[in-house]
Amino acid sequence: MKVTAAIAAGSALPAWFVEELSAQTATPKPRMANDKPGIALVGCGGQGRGDCGWAKNFGNVVAVCDVDAKHRDEAAKQFNVPDSGKYADFRKVMERQDVHVILTGTPDHWHTLVNLAAIQAGKDIYSEKPLTLTISEGQRLVKAVREHKTVFQTGSQQRSDPRFRLACELVRNGRLGKLEHIIVGLPTGPREGPFPPVPAPPELNWDFYVGQAPPVEYKVNNCHGNFRWWYCFSGGQMTDWGAHHNDIAQWGNGTERSGPVEVDGKGLVQMIPGGYDAMAKYRIDFKYANGVTMAVVDESTVTDRNVVGEGKSTPNGIQFIGPNGWIFVNRGEIKASKPELLDEALPAGALRLYKSDNHMANFFECVRTRKTPICEAEIGHRSISVAHLGVISVRLGRPLKWNPDQEEFVGDKEANQWLSRPMRKPYDYSFIS
Ligand SMILES: NC(=O)c1ccc[n+]([C@@H]2O[C@H](COP(=O)([O-])OP(=O)(O)OC[C@H]3O[C@@H](n4cnc5c(N)ncnc54)[C@H](O)[C@@H]3O)[C@@H](O)[C@H]2O)c1
Repeated sequence: MKVTAAIAAGSALPAWFVEELSAQTATPKPRMANDKPGIALVGCGGQGRGDCGWAKNFGNVVAVCDVDAKHRDEAAKQFNVPDSGKYADFRKVMERQDVHVILTGTPDHWHTLVNLAAIQAGKDIYSEKPLTLTISEGQRLVKAVREHKTVFQTGSQQRSDPRFRLACELVRNGRLGKLEHIIVGLPTGPREGPFPPVPAPPELNWDFYVGQAPPVEYKVNNCHGNFRWWYCFSGGQMTDWGAHHNDIAQWGNGTERSGPVEVDGKGLVQMIPGGYDAMAKYRIDFKYANGVTMAVVDESTVTDRNVVGEGKSTPNGIQFIGPNGWIFVNRGEIKASKPELLDEALPAGALRLYKSDNHMANFFECVRTRKTPICEAEIGHRSISVAHLGVISVRLGRPLKWNPDQEEFVGDKEANQWLSRPMRKPYDYSFIS
């Protein structure tokens, strides 16, 4: 009873769902020390170290790797890794037989090469989102994961938050009637600059950091943390938060292994020359083959059917809209146009979705059992593909038709060239072969 009350007080989840949650068994823990896989962290910044702090409950951290010696040393100290476990080049980490799990916490443009190298070396992987820099990278990754039977978790941890699962289960079971429209509210990106080049700090191997991206100079604001506002490394908020919320939108829409058929993206602000170049304000309209439409907008943008924001700005989160009303979910709350949309329990025999209430625990459980994690590679790839489609449409400045089965633009040679990007040598696929 105590567990039930504690969950209910903090979350505004309906009572029937809370009862279900509290009835679940405790998070599985490794049974003994030798059940613990060896873990290596590649990319020792804020999120990587956060993931590693979580992962160390399920294994032993034996190696850390970063192209910035300061981050590498800090992580080694934090996780008690000896000097022999510190690496500047992730390829060396992959050679270690006592490393079973790779945590990929690099910036987006390095995820795929690190992950492919890990797959080839037989490691299992927890990789941060946005899973890829391009759709073509995702296609390669999914193929490799399947071929090598890698246990792969995408770091889209909202999947393991019961609020999001509840919203998706209700929508998938027709609680709103036939789903009509989804509004995804993402943060507005920063619009700042210009930023002059400055010398890179001596502890950072800047050329390695830039990797496959075109040769850009180091600037105060294009490295740690800020890489995500630059198109060469990422896609701005459209891919950063887009990875999270588009993932939930796809889950609720039942298209997590597919994607939209049309995309029409618009950048709504002129970016400052020499400043951040990933679009800060945007509206992207999608259509799915099942008739559902979806608007992905930054929070400062007003959308026509914005039911939750009362005609003002669009709140951060996902709004599912159908003839019976709406359900809104974000990291803090779940609410609906009428209480009964949430309060009525799902009937026996209703479609229930993959249940994980701890993203990292789910991953390590799958490492042990060889089952498929809740956000495996294809799901991560399809979620971020939605974001990449939006970025491509915004940058091309026109609507596009997408074939989610073939994963290519329909009869559009120019757009299909955007499925990949030129990779700067030596940091192309040959770097890891
Ligand atoms: N799941 C979430 O909620 C969440 C939250 C924040 C960030 N992230 C994701 O985590 C990733 C990292 O973000 P962050 O905020 O920690 O960035 P960060 O800049 O703090 O850390 C990235 C680290 O990777 C290192 N790095 C760069 N290239 C490398 C390479 N080739 N090999 C080894 N290390 C390399 C950098 O030096 C840096 O230490 C991003 O993809 C981001 O989107 C996810």
